[in-house]
Amino acid sequence: MDLLNTSLERIPNNNGIRRVGIVTSGGDSPGMNAAIRAVTRSALAKGLDVYGIEEGYLGLYEKRFHEFSAGSVGDIIHRGGTILRTARLPQFKDDKAIRQKCYDNLKAMKIDALVVLGGDGSFQGANLLSNEMQQSGSEMRVACLPCTIDNDLAYSDFAIGFDTAINTCVNLINNLRDTMASHDRISVVEVMGRNCGDIAIYAGIAGGAEAIIIPEIDRTDEEWIEYVIGKLKQTRLRKKEYGIIIMAEGMHLQKGRSGMFTAQYLSQRINEYTCDDTGFVPFESRSVEFAHIQRGGSPTVSDRLLASTLGFHAIKVLLAGENRRCIGTRDGKVYDTDITQAIKIKRAPNQSLIDIADILAR
Ligand code: ADP
Ligand code: F6P
Repeated sequence: MDLLNTSLERIPNNNGIRRVGIVTSGGDSPGMNAAIRAVTRSALAKGLDVYGIEEGYLGLYEKRFHEFSAGSVGDIIHRGGTILRTARLPQFKDDKAIRQKCYDNLKAMKIDALVVLGGDGSFQGANLLSNEMQQSGSEMRVACLPCTIDNDLAYSDFAIGFDTAINTCVNLINNLRDTMASHDRISVVEVMGRNCGDIAIYAGIAGGAEAIIIPEIDRTDEEWIEYVIGKLKQTRLRKKEYGIIIMAEGMHLQKGRSGMFTAQYLSQRINEYTCDDTGFVPFESRSVEFAHIQRGGSPTVSDRLLASTLGFHAIKVLLAGENRRCIGTRDGKVYDTDITQAIKIKRAPNQSLIDIADILAR
């Protein structure tokens, strides 16, 4: 059945789904609430019961389920964070007894379809949960929605929350520009993204950064310092006396890196750089981490539309009897793919954007 072009009304519930559970897990992302609303209202439209589960896999373990009506998800489309709240439960990965309790709770609550909203780690958890439940004879179906500011789920062009995060970062960069320009300073900005440089690339280009530093590009810490100094020399040649350098947190978080390369460290190295034989007079630099500020805030129109569309599609997919599906977009179109496949694909850095960033900052 062509789910995309079939209206929700026309999809029969041949598979006997009665009760849908929704859980938000891992780092929150703007648009999670819009997705909760979309899943809830689409399921209610088909006469299904809906239960919101509090605080990720922790609430699943502690059996914190709440029945949702259409009104339960009213007035949330514009709110960042998640009304269900979220949590990290590292033991879920390693402790079978904890997972067993989650399965027992889902069975006891008669949940026959679970929608997981989260990032890569939450999807790994959903994969394990669904596999083990299937092995024990359960017919509960699972669908996942990509909700992470990191945009590191490569099966989907974009994750819910990414657009809001980059808009927040660009607004903050605009503020930094005012004060950096007034003082002839460089601002070294660290953004989130875990091992993924997408926030840095997108916000860096849109914010007119002099240099974008991401872990996907194979350079040593010292080679990056050299690259940045080179970019600052180009900045001077353009007669610009201030600048923005944006770096992804993966530069110090990622396995295999020295762990030293923070915004503060890079800023200090810029400050320590002395005049060289080219006559380059160094800039004064300051560092800032946007940290959790970039994870909050009212979702953008793009994120609200993405959340509404993907949440709606999740219910269609579940009604059609599919299981273990991750909903996303590819080349701008909604699609769904198997969870094992979705968590396997790694996001390759967007070379064309990297080239654009490099050339436009000359
Ligand atoms: P995100 O979903 O934002 O990537 P995390 O990586 O913190 O966030 O994962 C959220 C939760 O998913 C973890 O606290 C844990 O309960 C579960 N999880 C993470 N990784 C795995 C894994 N490899 N296997 C099973 N469960 C996992
Ligand atoms: O995965 C989302 C994310 O915001 C990452 O970008 C960041 O590294 C991490 O979560 C921060 O985690 P915490 O919420 O534990 O500070």
